[in-house]
Amino acid sequence: MKIGEVYQLSIIDYDMNGRGISKLEGLIFFVEGALKEEIVLAQVTNLHKKYAFAKTIRVLRESPHRKESLCPYSQSCGGCDLLHVDYETECLIKEKKISDTLAKARIVPRKINPLLSSGQEYGYRNKIILPFGKNEQNEVVFGFYQKATHQIVSIDECQIAPKEVSEVLSFIKKYVRVMNLSVYDEQTQQGLLRAVMIRNNFQKEMMVVLVVRKIWKDSFFAEHLTRNFPLVKSIFLNLNPDSTNVVLGKEYLHLYGAKTLHEKILDLDFEVSPASFLQVNHSQCEKLYQEAIRLAELSSDQKVIDAYCGIGSITLALAKKCRFVYGIEIVEEAVLNAKTNQQNNQIENVQFICGPCEEQIQKLNQKEKIDLIVFDPPRKGCDQHFLEIVCQMKIPKIVYISCNIATACRDIQYLIQNSYEVMEVTPVDMFPKTSHVESICSLVLRTETK
Ligand SMILES: C[S@@+](CC[C@H](N)C(=O)[O-])C[C@H]1O[C@@H](n2cnc3c(N)ncnc32)[C@H](O)[C@@H]1O
Repeated sequence: MKIGEVYQLSIIDYDMNGRGISKLEGLIFFVEGALKEEIVLAQVTNLHKKYAFAKTIRVLRESPHRKESLCPYSQSCGGCDLLHVDYETECLIKEKKISDTLAKARIVPRKINPLLSSGQEYGYRNKIILPFGKNEQNEVVFGFYQKATHQIVSIDECQIAPKEVSEVLSFIKKYVRVMNLSVYDEQTQQGLLRAVMIRNNFQKEMMVVLVVRKIWKDSFFAEHLTRNFPLVKSIFLNLNPDSTNVVLGKEYLHLYGAKTLHEKILDLDFEVSPASFLQVNHSQCEKLYQEAIRLAELSSDQKVIDAYCGIGSITLALAKKCRFVYGIEIVEEAVLNAKTNQQNNQIENVQFICGPCEEQIQKLNQKEKIDLIVFDPPRKGCDQHFLEIVCQMKIPKIVYISCNIATACRDIQYLIQNSYEVMEVTPVDMFPKTSHVESICSLVLRTETK
């Protein structure tokens, strides 16, 4: 068997990323673009001793769950990997990803709830970041990176972002071409424009951030863009002079309009700065928070920590139902947003602390008896030292929110070894059309250790 060869494969199941699984000549095949119970012709793209990766090139027997992709870039763009399945199957793939990963880690929750599915499959993303590049005709383009490469796939629209965002993106591309602005070249590390980020809110207002290698002065850009798109309420430059493939730099320079974008979540008002985190799917974010609050089973006399709290969105929602909440967050801009959000919503029983959770929780450990901790870390999961202190504090209940079930399972295993028991797990479809899935897990401290 060789890379590039084509085989006929019968698909027997799905893997964690929604790829079809097949077996042939003692090898397990992971087949991109193939559905369970289909027979496909697939080309080998990568070969290992016991397994191989392949890409569907023709479907010989089609599943009734196959759906035509609405995206013209689905063959090359690495953004969405579940455009070819119906939504019912997409939900099953995500539920399976959660239950299989838990089972592999030997975690047995008392209950795994059904996935909280999304009413909206397309146009849901409230943030999009696209790198600039050049096409074969040497014209400026922007797009997503091709699967497993650093090659940009030029796009004019993205199905999972609102159409207003695609219109602004097209306008910016035209502007860059007409003004003959240079784009950053990774090889030579020269050129001005690196990427564009657009955030939008529930009212379809937008914040535009141009990522540049060096300071760029052009008063005409903001005027021109906002005259054509009055919903663009805020424009920033993000300065990234480093020769790195990390997209965003540390410094933001305000160019036009408001310095924050306004968002409404569960009847609370929020301001968000360009550097602050916000869940990417507004309606699913509300479902996620409601489920976290249900699993928390709060009472009015309880003290709570919301670790990795961002702009304080869960913190303030929790505060309505308990005695006091500490929110801990490392990004300074996000903590400033959180404090403004606290004031704007007139909520008093909250304190936001800026710093790494693993350090700040140590200080709370010395002065407070905490009844519940909610944590929602980035994809890499929690810091080990942070988990050690959570266990030392013998906090009776934990609600762990995660966008990466693999790292969540690693952390949950540690909590189980330290006397916690897993109660409920709820998967949430935060990222329709992709195989990513959010989840919430509730844990309690076993009674003999309290
Ligand atoms: C997945 S986001 C969750 C934010 C918030 N809970 C929400 O729902 O919007 C993770 C957050 O953790 C923050 N963060 C990352 N590492 C951290 C650390 N070591 N200590 C504190 N916060 C951290 C990030 O800046 C980000 O705001």
